[in-house]
Amino acid sequence: MAPAAPTPREILLLSLLLFILLVTHSTSLPKSGLAKPELKGNLSAVPPALSRSKTIDTQLIWSASPVPQTKIVSHVPGKFHAVISSSALTRPSGWTILDRLYILKGVLYIVSDEPRTVPDIRFIYSKGVFIQPGPEAAETRIPSDEDIRIISSSEAKKLFGSGAQIMGGVTFLVNDPPQFITHYYHWSAELWFGFWRTYSSLDTAITSEGNTTLPAVRRLMFNHLDAFHWRDYALMNQWVVRSSFPSIIMEFIDDWRDRAEMGRPFVFDRVVIADRSAAMLSYNYARYQRTAGAPMALPGSVNWWMPIRNNVVEFAGLGPAIGGGTTSIPVITYISRQQWGRRMLIPEHHDKLVKELYKLRDQYGYEVNVVNAEAMSRVEQIQLAARTTIMMGVHGNGLTSLIWMKPSPRSTVMEFFYPQGFAHDYEYTTRALGMVHYGFWNSEYFTSPAVPIPKYVEGFQGNAIPLDGEAVARLCVERLTLASEVDD
Ligand SMILES: *[C@@H]1O[C@H](CO)[C@@H](O)[C@H](O)[C@H]1NC(C)=O
Ligand SMILES: *[C@@H]1O[C@H](CO)[C@@H](O)[C@H](O)[C@H]1NC(C)=O
Repeated sequence: MAPAAPTPREILLLSLLLFILLVTHSTSLPKSGLAKPELKGNLSAVPPALSRSKTIDTQLIWSASPVPQTKIVSHVPGKFHAVISSSALTRPSGWTILDRLYILKGVLYIVSDEPRTVPDIRFIYSKGVFIQPGPEAAETRIPSDEDIRIISSSEAKKLFGSGAQIMGGVTFLVNDPPQFITHYYHWSAELWFGFWRTYSSLDTAITSEGNTTLPAVRRLMFNHLDAFHWRDYALMNQWVVRSSFPSIIMEFIDDWRDRAEMGRPFVFDRVVIADRSAAMLSYNYARYQRTAGAPMALPGSVNWWMPIRNNVVEFAGLGPAIGGGTTSIPVITYISRQQWGRRMLIPEHHDKLVKELYKLRDQYGYEVNVVNAEAMSRVEQIQLAARTTIMMGVHGNGLTSLIWMKPSPRSTVMEFFYPQGFAHDYEYTTRALGMVHYGFWNSEYFTSPAVPIPKYVEGFQGNAIPLDGEAVARLCVERLTLASEVDD
């Protein structure tokens, strides 16, 4: 049985009582107890009554003023439109930084009274569905009003009312299907790489120690992915996320739906949107098949990756200055796939390569490691990569570790392909870090810009890849004796 509703008289009495209580209570408090501004942010010092009060941190309230407009941050100011219409070369498609982007009922809202200054939304967002090849499939991924809209501030006012809930700090929003998520390479060397390359375009003075003015990323959101399908078989994805940003919070499709079903607008302080389908419209994707290639068109420091690399390396227990091979003994690491069962060297050629590398160790004093990545712990993999000067191996996921190397004039990646075969994955990634990459076809080798057209030739995935170990060893010496005068 429900209690009877209070009468107006009872309410009045109760209010009076509360008021008296409040007044006597607050006057009995020591004066310093309530009004000490320096206590802000010190949770243990804030009385419960204060921490529960409403502040600007929960709501962006515009009341009778116009709805604050969305700002597109990631383009070169004043150039974006010229760029879109005249040349696709520098279009940073698929990776966008926006301030004050709104979401309501699962739809993104760009509020702008000058919609002409907003890039075509196809270059920002898509339907986020499974990606099939071909132009017809691409058509089906073009976003509609159900996904993203550009509205004026007066339309926004009608739709949103007088305010929106703030999602504070920097958010990385992934509008991708699960397809390319559960894989160390696609996660770390594409998604994470692309995100950080985009975001770090806001600090072009990042130092080689990784010092930056950028605030840490607070939130990683997925609107098409559940919490159980983002980890990879090598368990590296979670490792990389938690060591890059230990405080980061992750939200998944259920959380996205929760927010949508609340029927109230939310506003991102700052969001970086990754959209694989949109990135596929970029020139750099067409050229290199790498979605993380697109944000390379944005400005950036040559040390752009160092904040992440150093965090991950330090988490693995090493100092960030480690590696590079210029002020310490160079380290050669051959990541062997010979136990993997697919895409392997001819066994005798593998043996010969190992012999040649050990000869270098004996003759020049280099440290030489021959390892199977799958037999190492995650810490061991990251530590070894961080110390490595020359990393080599057959094309494959083991080479993803190159992103933890320290770029120096000597740092080099050597990738072995079946002759005439080629893919840009590790080649592009190596160069994006300012290191040198060589592709090998047996005794022949090549480097950018003279690289072949990507091709998965017959034999590419096979276990009879030929390699001239002597040629590899000769190039190692060339790389490690060169450029020593550049060192400090
Ligand atoms: C937080 O408040 C407590 C209790 O007043 C105080 O002892 C502590 O020094 C404060 N910490 C900081 C970082 O201000
Ligand atoms: C970089 O940051 C570290 C620690 O955060 C600091 O000790 C160092 O002085 C900074 N270096 C520069 C060049 O600001």
